[in-house]
Amino acid sequence: MGLYDFLEDSLLTDYMAKTPKSRKLFQEAIKYTPGGVHSSLRYHPPYPFYIERARGSKIWDVDGNEYIDYVMGYGANLPGHSHPKLVEAIKEQVEDGTLYTMPFELQIKLVRELIRRYPSMAGFRLSNTGSEAVMHAIKLARAYTGREKIIKVEGSYHGTYDSVSISVGVKPGEWGSEKEPSRVLDPGVPKHYERDTIVVLYNDLEGVEYALKKHEGEIAAMILEPVAMNSVGLIMPMDGYLEEVRRLTEEHGVLLIFDEVKTGLRIAPGGAVEYFGVEPDIVTLAKALGGGVPISAYGFKKHLTEIMYPKGRHIHSGTYNGNPLSVAASYKNLTEILTDTAYHQLHIRGEELAKGLSDIIEDHKLPLCVSSLESVGTIHFMPWKPRNYRDVALNYDRKAYANHWMKMLLNGVIIRGVIEGEPWFLSLAHTEEDVQRTIEVSEEVLKNLNYN
Ligand SMILES: Cc1ncc(COP(=O)(O)O)c(C=O)c1O
Repeated sequence: MGLYDFLEDSLLTDYMAKTPKSRKLFQEAIKYTPGGVHSSLRYHPPYPFYIERARGSKIWDVDGNEYIDYVMGYGANLPGHSHPKLVEAIKEQVEDGTLYTMPFELQIKLVRELIRRYPSMAGFRLSNTGSEAVMHAIKLARAYTGREKIIKVEGSYHGTYDSVSISVGVKPGEWGSEKEPSRVLDPGVPKHYERDTIVVLYNDLEGVEYALKKHEGEIAAMILEPVAMNSVGLIMPMDGYLEEVRRLTEEHGVLLIFDEVKTGLRIAPGGAVEYFGVEPDIVTLAKALGGGVPISAYGFKKHLTEIMYPKGRHIHSGTYNGNPLSVAASYKNLTEILTDTAYHQLHIRGEELAKGLSDIIEDHKLPLCVSSLESVGTIHFMPWKPRNYRDVALNYDRKAYANHWMKMLLNGVIIRGVIEGEPWFLSLAHTEEDVQRTIEVSEEVLKNLNYN
């Protein structure tokens, strides 16, 4: 059963009464576009609401409804929607050309700023999306090691590259043992990819060690999100997990890729690498890098640069890589918007929200708990903190989870993205007032939900 098939009838009626213009647009859109959306999981029944504009912490739909937005471009809009400095940088650049496909100085400055934040990296290459950065990172690891296999974590989403489109939204009946999880391919991924992507559970060091030993000499890299933010809300690494993954991969001559598309430049100026003090060989960045414009990057340690063209034969290419519009916005974002003071304020807001929600759960003795890290967090619809994807898939109250989202929406708060398992994302634009309002609405909604 799809998540949103759990929505109560009365909520659907209220939703449809609030969004008649969206319904009309949807009916038009589905004539030409499956689901009426351009990224499959943006669809939800009975139909998605269509956006008119966004500014700061707010977003408005075509029916004039105003929402406090915690989707925030799935984390990309760290500065808030249309931050004035970002707008200014884009406007200035538009006048001087939007695409050169030749190098320019600001690219150098942007990469220098990335290295300042990630000093363990020797260099960065720019691309456009998180999926691309992940794909290039994996190809680089394969080219360097001459091996084909990779290890990924069950339930983790790393974008649309075939090698990682495996065991993402996997179901209990198909996921296999804990020691050797099955490799479940997304429809459309060629069968032979099953051979080369080994799946392990998050926070399971024995699984990592087992996979490394079993496939000794065959594995190019292990890719993981240092904090799991793209599987089931937010799951923190257990104490010592990242350090031990680093030690084990190094011991077995396997490269370590931190997919920091969500954590990067957000949980600290230098992302998870700075926060946890663990150094991968390759790091991928996207989302917060552009603050709402499409840009991504992958960083690498010095030894890897030896095989990259023109020194070596590894090619990374793309017409829009390092394009002036994105580079101008990203440079402004990193150097003038995401300042130390801004991070400090953001983390205060994050703590206020997480504490407010935890207090509600405690006061009303609800079967829920909160996991959060700085500006990102989630309410788990289960009474204890999960260690991995399976814990959530087996134990959470899906019906309450779906209805919570809709009730918050009807009360003017988009608490998370439509995609099942998205966390909330605060931006620099969220005010204390936004957070207080969110806590008030949450109290009313959470105490009146029907729990299993
Ligand atoms: C951890 C992680 N990696 C990769 C991706 C893919 O990024 P994009 O959607 O920009 O291709 C995402 C997207 O949500 C992500 O969260």
